[in-house]
Amino acid sequence: MLRSALALFTLPLAPLATAEIDFAHEVVPLLQTHCIECHGGDEAEGGFSMNTRALVLEADILEPGKPHDSILMELVLSDDEDEKMPPPDKKKAALNPAEVDVLTRWIAAGVPWEEGFTFAKDRYEPPLKPRPVKLPKGPKGANPIDLLVREYFERNEIHPPKLADDEKALLAKTVEAVKASTAECNM
Ligand code: HEC
Repeated sequence: MLRSALALFTLPLAPLATAEIDFAHEVVPLLQTHCIECHGGDEAEGGFSMNTRALVLEADILEPGKPHDSILMELVLSDDEDEKMPPPDKKKAALNPAEVDVLTRWIAAGVPWEEGFTFAKDRYEPPLKPRPVKLPKGPKGANPIDLLVREYFERNEIHPPKLADDEKALLAKTVEAVKASTAECNM
């Protein structure tokens, strides 16, 4: 009671015409906290959805540029339990004066909205495009992973370990093969 009376009293003092509004950081969190559970996503209590700017305007509950002629502000500031938003009978706290000020400035600024923003849950998400990896230059036919590793070494001035010569490589392969076959024999 006292709270909304105070809010009403301070409203006309706010510099409405000049106050900037940040839709994403001021309006969205407020609506998300206080309204969207009943007026967003799949919910549209009283037939009112705030999913998009078009839907908000369509409902005819606010006058862009004229917060004081807007039903939405009336509902938010109302002392009538039956019409107040958010509904007190649902144990929802009333907006505090700072929040009332945000809504007021938002409507005064002409109800700005971020292009493409929606509170709808199934909003369109562009499919992830495959990102082809650009391979660094190197010897023709080289393993792409080797090329990437080599480029990384070069960029970070790391001296890559020398490649084993054929003899050592053959020896390593032989040891591996022997190990594998003895493992089989021991089974
Ligand atoms: C807990 C659910 C709930 C929350 C939260 C809620 N509302 Fe509502 N709202 C309702 C219900 C239920 C109705 C329908 C009331 C009726 O028809 O009598 C409604 C109706 C409305 C209407 C339509 C009035 C009309 O006559 O067309 C507006 C506008 C509205 N709410 C704004 C808001 C705003 C703004 C907020 C957040 C500040 C909010 N509501 C938060 C439940 C909620």
